[in-house]
Amino acid sequence: MAILNPFCLLLFFLLLSTCCVSNLSKPTSRAPNRILALVQKQPLVLKYHKGTLLKGNITLHLFWYGTFTSTQRSILIDFVQSLSSASSSHTPSSVSSWWRTTESYRGGPCTLVVGNQTLDANYSLGKSLNTSNLLSLASKVNSDAHEVHVIMTSADVAVEDFCMNQCGTHGWGKSKHGERVAYAWVGNAIAQCPGQCAWPFHQPVYGPQTPPLVAPNGDVGVDGMVINLATVLAGLVTNPFEDGYYQGPPSAPLEAVSACAGIFGKGAYPGYAGNVLVEKPTGASYNAVGVRGRKFLLPAMWDPLSSSCKTLL
Ligand SMILES: *[C@@H]1O[C@H](CO)[C@@H](O)[C@H](O)[C@H]1NC(C)=O
Ligand SMILES: *[C@@H]1O[C@H](CO)[C@@H](O)[C@H](O)[C@H]1NC(C)=O
Ligand SMILES: *[C@@H]1O[C@H](CO)[C@@H](O)[C@H](O)[C@H]1NC(C)=O
Ligand SMILES: *[C@@H]1O[C@H](CO)[C@@H](O)[C@H](O)[C@H]1NC(C)=O
Ligand SMILES: *[C@@H]1O[C@H](CO)[C@@H](O)[C@H](O)[C@H]1NC(C)=O
Repeated sequence: MAILNPFCLLLFFLLLSTCCVSNLSKPTSRAPNRILALVQKQPLVLKYHKGTLLKGNITLHLFWYGTFTSTQRSILIDFVQSLSSASSSHTPSSVSSWWRTTESYRGGPCTLVVGNQTLDANYSLGKSLNTSNLLSLASKVNSDAHEVHVIMTSADVAVEDFCMNQCGTHGWGKSKHGERVAYAWVGNAIAQCPGQCAWPFHQPVYGPQTPPLVAPNGDVGVDGMVINLATVLAGLVTNPFEDGYYQGPPSAPLEAVSACAGIFGKGAYPGYAGNVLVEKPTGASYNAVGVRGRKFLLPAMWDPLSSSCKTLL
């Protein structure tokens, strides 16, 4: 465990046991409890460790574990589709312009496409999952190096280390054919730890008690998942196999977005997300627009060109 900020928040760092069927790697990035980690070295540098990044066309297979409404699914699908959408790319404050910062990491663009979706509304592995379970869900669909499995768990599913030190993870394992299979997981924290994993849409558990922001899609848990999905996807493509871009120990790396935790707009400080836009009638806070006019609040991402955390606004 390590204390990373002035508010004594414990971050990440439990080494997870791995197991079984294939050579599993422990999850690399954690989407951290964000209220916290505003400590930044100046300049912030994520070192490149000479490994593979995910570039070119990457297919994301979505695995819905547990109970999601169709509205909840559409918020998350719209977000993923917005990342590489051409339609909104002209505005500076679009989801695709946010994602385009990953192009500045060596190797050029990474275009994300939504692949197959699997609904597991019957909780096939129960309501308490460990890391091996996540990997076995990810390996249900055959895949190659250009496919990534994204597992989303509903509010009533407990996941190893969820809320204790992470709001989401990414990691990798090996398929039967020896291919490296990357996966990501995020969970709906609304019933378990919204103050840790749905901040700034929920009152934080620690630190300065600023009023929560209004969630742009009206769902605190799912709008929080968008932030955590943004965090793990950016970490995944820029450090998929623990030898890409990160700072700190490989077992508990600070990656593209986790290195910028807690920052959503200019002027952010612990407990304050920074300057963002507010939608007039609803009071909803956002900083990015995606497909179908959908609004999202996206975290800052480390920009290799400026060696700093880049905010959209
Ligand atoms: C797992 O790792 C061991 C030792 O590193 C290696 O000998 C073995 O071939 C690997 N298995 C697979 C399926 O990659
Ligand atoms: C990605 O897919 C598009 C559309 O299918 C195709 O035109 C393009 O050549 C592909 N890019 C790469 C790097 O494979
Ligand atoms: C989706 O699943 C079907 C059946 O398993 C498979 O044939 C198809 O290739 C998959 N699509 C993608 C994009 O992987
Ligand atoms: C889920 O469970 C219900 C009730 O037990 C059952 O009727 C249904 O067939 C199951 N669905 C799947 C996909 O297993
Ligand atoms: C994960 O949970 C499964 C039961 O779903 C259990 O069989 C397995 O031993 C657990 N793995 C670890 C590493 O704890």
